[in-house]
Amino acid sequence: MPAHRQAYRCALLHSLGDPAVTGLDGSYQYWPDGLLQVEDGHIVAAGDANEALPYLPPGIEVEALPGRLIMPGFVDTHIHLPQLGMIGAFGEQLLDWLNHYTFPCEARFADPAHAQDVARRFIAELLRNGTSTALVFASVHPASVEAFFEEALRLGLRMLCGKVMMDRNAPPELLDGPDHGYAQSRDLIERWHGRGRLHYAVTPRFAPTSSAEQLEAAGRLLREYPSVYLHTHLSENRQEIDWVRQLFPERAGYLDVYAHHGLLGPRSVLAHGVHLDGHECAQLAAAGAAVAFCPTSNLFLGSGLFNLPQAERHQLKVGLGTDVGAGTSFSILQTLNEAYKVMQLQGASLHPFKSLYLATLGGARALSLDDRIGQLRPGHEADFVVLDLAATPLLEYRLRQCRDITETLFVLMTLGDDRVIERTYAHGNRVHQRG
Ligand code: GUN
Ligand code: ZN
Repeated sequence: MPAHRQAYRCALLHSLGDPAVTGLDGSYQYWPDGLLQVEDGHIVAAGDANEALPYLPPGIEVEALPGRLIMPGFVDTHIHLPQLGMIGAFGEQLLDWLNHYTFPCEARFADPAHAQDVARRFIAELLRNGTSTALVFASVHPASVEAFFEEALRLGLRMLCGKVMMDRNAPPELLDGPDHGYAQSRDLIERWHGRGRLHYAVTPRFAPTSSAEQLEAAGRLLREYPSVYLHTHLSENRQEIDWVRQLFPERAGYLDVYAHHGLLGPRSVLAHGVHLDGHECAQLAAAGAAVAFCPTSNLFLGSGLFNLPQAERHQLKVGLGTDVGAGTSFSILQTLNEAYKVMQLQGASLHPFKSLYLATLGGARALSLDDRIGQLRPGHEADFVVLDLAATPLLEYRLRQCRDITETLFVLMTLGDDRVIERTYAHGNRVHQRG
C-alpha cells in the first residue's frame, strides 16, 4: 500500500521538557508559521513552513489552517468512566460523596448495555476536549472495561484502563473478592493489554476498599505482567488518611500500605497526593511512580491544595488528571485554569510553559509513554489537536491583544475549553471535528 501522507500548515507548539529542569526558554518549540507532516499515523517532521516546503516530496496535500494552533493531544492521567452520570454532584466531601453519589452510579454498570452507552459518550467527550490519551478507572464490572476498550480500539486511540478491584467497605453488589478480582483482572489483561494501542492498569480503588489479601493479589498481577500499570488513589482527604491508619495499623502510613504490597513502580500512577510529606514524595520518586494532580476535583471535594513545588523538589513525576466525576470538567485547558489558582492560593504560580508540559509531555512521562506521544517529534504517533484561536468573540478579541506565544498560551488556558478544540487527531486520523 502506498504511504498516506498529509501536511498541515499553521502555528505549531510543543513542550521539550519540564521548565523546572530545562528553564523556560529551553522547555518548548514554537513555529508561528509551521508545517506538520504526518505519514501512516506518525509524525514525519514538524518545523518552519518556509524551510520545509521546498523539500516536501511531490503529491503531498498541504492543508492551510490559518488562525489555528496545533499542539500534541492532551493527556489525562486520572479519570473515571462510570462517573459520567454524576459529575457535579452537590455538597459532600470524599467519603460521603462516594457513598451517596458514586457507588450508586457505578452500580448501574452491571448492565453491559449501559456500560457500552456510557463508554461511547465518555470517549466522545474526551475527544471533544482534545484528550487523546487517558488513564481510566472503569467500574468493578469487567464489561465496563470491555466497552471502553472496544470503542477505543475502533477509533485507534492510545488508552489505558482497568476494572476496579474492591472487596470491602462498599455496597455488596460492587465487591469482587480477592480471588475473583484477581481472576477478572487477569482475564482482561490477557484479552486487551497490548492490543491496538491499549494498555491495562491494575486498579485497586484505594486502600480503604481493598483487604490486605486483595492488595497482595494486585501486587501478584504486577509481578506476573510487568508491563501493565497500577492505578489507584492516595492521600486525597484527611478523613480518608485517618481511616487508612485505622484499617492498616501495622503499616507506617498510607503510602506504606501500597509499598508493602509491591504496588509502587515506574508504571504506577497515584491520583491526588494532596497531603503527601517530603519523605513520601521522595519514596514515590525513588520508585519511579507518578502522581496525578487533579485540581478541579481537589477544589470541588474540598480535599486541599496539591503542593506542586514540593513534587518538583523531589523530581516526582506529575501528570494532570481531570478526575471526572469529582473533577468538574473534561477540559484539560479548564483543569489548568484551576491548577493556576491552586498555585496562587499557595503563594506560588504556574507558568504557561509548565502547564503546557503537564498537559502533554509531563502526562506522557507520567504514563511512561513519552517515547510515543506527548510531542510533535518525528517518529512519534500523530496524536494532536487543532485549536481555533477565534473560537469565541471574547477569545478572538483577547488573543489579539497578546504580544507573544507565552501570553497567548496563558489566555488559552484561562478562557479556553472544549469550544477551542476544533479537531482531534489520533494515529493520524481525525477522530473529532467540532460542529
Ligand atoms: N477515592 C476512592 N475512590 C475515589 C473516586 O472515585 N474519586 C475520587 N476523587 N477519590 C476516590
Ligand atoms: Zn479519582
